[in-house]
Amino acid sequence: MRLHKPSSLFIVLGLLLCSAFAHADTAAKQPHIVILATGGTIAGSGADSTTTVGYTAATVGVQRLIDAVPELKKVAQVSGEQVMQIASENMNNAAWLELAKRVNVLLKRADVDGIVITHGTDTLEETAYFLDLVVKSSKPVVLVGAMRPSTAISADGPINLYNAVLLAATPEANGKGVLVVLNDQINAARDVSKTNTATLDTFKSSELGLLGYIQGNRAYFYRSSTRKHTRDTEFDIANLSVLPQVDIVYGYANMNRIALDAFVNAGAKGIIHAGTGDGSLATPLKTALTEARKKGILIVRASRVGQGIVARNGEADDDQLDFVVADTLNAQKARILLMLALTRTADTKEIQRMFYTY
Ligand code: SIN
Repeated sequence: MRLHKPSSLFIVLGLLLCSAFAHADTAAKQPHIVILATGGTIAGSGADSTTTVGYTAATVGVQRLIDAVPELKKVAQVSGEQVMQIASENMNNAAWLELAKRVNVLLKRADVDGIVITHGTDTLEETAYFLDLVVKSSKPVVLVGAMRPSTAISADGPINLYNAVLLAATPEANGKGVLVVLNDQINAARDVSKTNTATLDTFKSSELGLLGYIQGNRAYFYRSSTRKHTRDTEFDIANLSVLPQVDIVYGYANMNRIALDAFVNAGAKGIIHAGTGDGSLATPLKTALTEARKKGILIVRASRVGQGIVARNGEADDDQLDFVVADTLNAQKARILLMLALTRTADTKEIQRMFYTY
C-alpha cells in the first residue's frame, strides 16, 4: 500500500500534465478567429424570455456573447473586440471606414485566420457589401446577426455565432468574399438581403441563390459569386476619412421631385433612383434627374423591385442622359458602390464598368 500511493499520485499527475499539454497543443493548432462586435439584436436583451419584439438592441458585450457559447472552443481559438455598440440603423459611413480599417489591420497579422463581425440585421447586408469591396485579404470575413434577442427562448444568436466562427475557421471559406451566415445558410455579401421584418429565415439571396449551408459542424459550399471582391477590387480606403455623399430617391405613384431637390441642395455627389419596375423614371423625376446630371451629380438607375437586371438604355436613354444603371444591385448596395466609385473617378463609363464588375 505504502508503495502504491505515491506511484498512483504520479500517474494521476502525469495524466493531468499530458492532458494539459494536449489541450494547449490543440489550441495552438486551431485557427485564430477574431470576433468584432458592433451591437444589434444578437447583443440585445428583452424584458423577459418571451419578448421577441420591442427589446433593446446592443446591450450585451462581446465577452458575454463569447462566454455564452463555450462550444466555440471546439472549432477555434477566439478573441473578441467591442468595436462599437449600436443598433444597426445607426450604422454610418464613418463607422464603416473605422471597421474596415480594423479588419484590414487584423487580417494582415499572421496569427489571425479570419474575422467574425456581429451586427444588427437591419443594415447587415450593407456593411457586408462595403467590406466585400474594401477588405484587402482573402481570409474569411463573416457577418452574423440574430433575429431574437439574447434573452429570448430559442434565441438564434448562439447557434448563428457558432456557425459564423466555424465558417470563418473553414479553409474553403478563403477567397469567397465577405460572407453572411444566419439560419444555417451561407450567403454572399453582394447578393443577400433582409427580406422579412421578423422571421429567422429573413436573409435571402433570392434568385441568385445562397452559397451553401452549415450542417453537422461543417460548412458545405455549392457555388461562389462571379463578381470581383476583396483583394480584386480597385478600392482603397486606407487613407480615406470621409465618403462622398450619395442619397437614395424612392420611386412611387404620384411621384414628385421634392426629395431629389432637397438632396441636390444638400450637396449630394450622387443619387440612386430606386425606380418602379425596370428603374422607370416618372416625368417630374426624369426632368429633375437630368438637371442634376447637368450639375455634375452622378445618377444611377436602380429598381425598387428587388430582383433582376436594370436594363441599360431600357426604360431611359442612359447613353444620352449620361446615367448609369445598377445592374442587379439593390438601391442600398448601389449607394455603397457609387460612393466608392466616386473616390476613384467621375467618369460615367468607368462607373458603369464598375457596376458590371462588382
Ligand atoms: C439592428 O439592426 O440593430 C436591430 C435589428 C436586428 O439586429 O435584428
